[in-house]
Amino acid sequence: MKDLVMASAASIVSTLSCQRLSGKVALVTGGASGIGESIARLFHQHGAKVCIVDLQDNLGQNVCNSLGDNIIYLHGDVTSEDDILRAVDLTVDKFGRLDIMVNNAGLSGPPCPDIRDLDLSIFERVFDVNVKGTFIGMKHAARAMIPQNKGSIISICSVAGSIGGLGPHAYTGSKHAVLGLTKSVAAELGKHGIRVNCVSPYGVATGLALAHLPEEERTEDAWVGFRSFVARNANLQGVELTTDDVANAVLFLASEEARYISGANLLVDGGFTCSNHSLRVFR
Ligand SMILES: NC(=O)c1ccc[n+]([C@@H]2O[C@H](COP(=O)([O-])OP(=O)(O)OC[C@H]3O[C@@H](n4cnc5c(N)ncnc54)[C@H](O)[C@@H]3O)[C@@H](O)[C@H]2O)c1
Repeated sequence: MKDLVMASAASIVSTLSCQRLSGKVALVTGGASGIGESIARLFHQHGAKVCIVDLQDNLGQNVCNSLGDNIIYLHGDVTSEDDILRAVDLTVDKFGRLDIMVNNAGLSGPPCPDIRDLDLSIFERVFDVNVKGTFIGMKHAARAMIPQNKGSIISICSVAGSIGGLGPHAYTGSKHAVLGLTKSVAAELGKHGIRVNCVSPYGVATGLALAHLPEEERTEDAWVGFRSFVARNANLQGVELTTDDVANAVLFLASEEARYISGANLLVDGGFTCSNHSLRVFR
């Protein structure tokens, strides 16, 4: 009996540490850099066949070249329904099915501390990519997954999807919308065996963090400044959040270990959103 218990514990450990997405097919938007690149690499390492959709062709192609087989790059804009329809169809043509859709592509827009100065074209662009782009991804993933009666749709939300004051209005509003869409689409697709979740990271040092700065101002000092700002305001101390931490949370939701989890918002924030930092009771 003891041996049996040991054997099953060992098999759980080996499932956890080996290929958790063996035989699965995934599409990752915005997979050419940052969090999306880490997700694409981790999924591939865990045995998934992966299609990356992005606008940055060189970076996307480099990710594929570095991994070899079972990963392809497609140029596509998440705000274009035609592009995402085509990407889903090409993924299914190439790899036979679609099991996992990761709606990761996103942008924050420039900081704007005064609402009166906000240019509506910026507001619209952020909503287009973050909200419409996520919705289009959900819609076309559902089209491929409903006939399979199975699938996992994961969108990258943010701590700004839970509380205000962390980023520009458009970004905060758009990430609240991603959370709302996650719940709404989870409510519809449960009857088809499709799980719909989102992951909400705290600040990670990626291109998005300094995207508002011109290229020449994204210096080493600017990165150090961003990291120290994030660390100073974090709840969990002594650990820096990386893109791999976010990818690991996405891997969990994509895998069979999360087979009964749907409609959830998995916060990868070290407890940031459950703490009232301004009162500084524990600092
Ligand atoms: N970095 C952070 O601190 C942080 C925190 C919370 C949530 N997020 C979210 O994580 C996701 C990934 O961001 P990141 O930090 O890796 O940023 P990033 O800028 O490094 O990566 C975003 C990727 O999306 C691609 N992309 C942008 N617009 C696109 C479009 N219209 N069509 C296709 N691809 C497009 C970009 O080319 C890029 O490769 C975003 O949704 C972002 O809001 C980031």
